Amino acid sequence: MEKLINAAADIIVKSDLTLALTGAGISVESGIPDFRSAGGLWSKFDPAEYANISAFRSNPEKVWEMLWEMDKIVSGAEPNEAHIGMGELEKMGYLHYIITQNVDNLHQAGGSKNVIEYHGNSSSLSCLWCGKTYTAEEKRSEHPPRCECKMILKPDVVFFGEAIPQDAMNRSFQLASSAKALMVVGTSAVVSPANTIPSIAKQNGARVIEINKERTHLTDSLTDIFLQGSAGEIISVLVKTIKRKVEGVLS
Ligand code: APR
Repeated sequence: MEKLINAAADIIVKSDLTLALTGAGISVESGIPDFRSAGGLWSKFDPAEYANISAFRSNPEKVWEMLWEMDKIVSGAEPNEAHIGMGELEKMGYLHYIITQNVDNLHQAGGSKNVIEYHGNSSSLSCLWCGKTYTAEEKRSEHPPRCECKMILKPDVVFFGEAIPQDAMNRSFQLASSAKALMVVGTSAVVSPANTIPSIAKQNGARVIEINKERTHLTDSLTDIFLQGSAGEIISVLVKTIKRKVEGVLS
């Protein structure tokens, strides 16, 4: 593993545009279950019934049962070593943008500034009927949360069947097309269009460094360096290795 981390650090230090694509796996060590691992969220709630925009429109009270369960966990979660390490890499100038599929705001809490929220952010709610917006905080005690027009509010996250925010989509495509290195961290890469980002980057010459506790369909197809294990542990070792390289201690 040490050799692989060293090779990954080399790629990152030499790259003048490094991106990361992150998924739910990076927040598991903050206590937030991912979706598709054993015991993940989708083993408790069928996404077709709870995470689809038509399900929300037809039965918002039912969907809020899942959303409250998530909100209880997310609102108390802290950034872990992986989020903090990526924030450090950004400060050092070795990680330029994070494209995250997560809606938990933990990259920002971990110090990252250049975060593209591909699936939105759960810290604000909107009314699908009159357009008024609220913070999740101010509505936390209302079950389900209602707009002043009395309709039930929806979190500003992308449900299945909804479009990705246009600016997030365009920016991500643009960056992936010119990236020299892409870190893919804690995602099964099964949900489109987020899962097109690794192939766009690869096609345009980026080296792909995948960090995951398990192999994914990317591992044997477009990953250049696969670092298997927990994101928190691997990223903190990777950051230490980059620091030593930059200080000239490591060749
Ligand atoms: N360290 C590294 N990887 C981990 C860890 C960990 N501690 N824990 C889990 N993983 C890996 C799993 O092995 C899996 O490959 O993270 C990945 C999580 O995959 P998913 O649960 O499918 O989550 P994600 O890829 O983010 O899902 C994408 O699907 O349901 C939608 O909108 C939702 O944004 C989400 C999208």
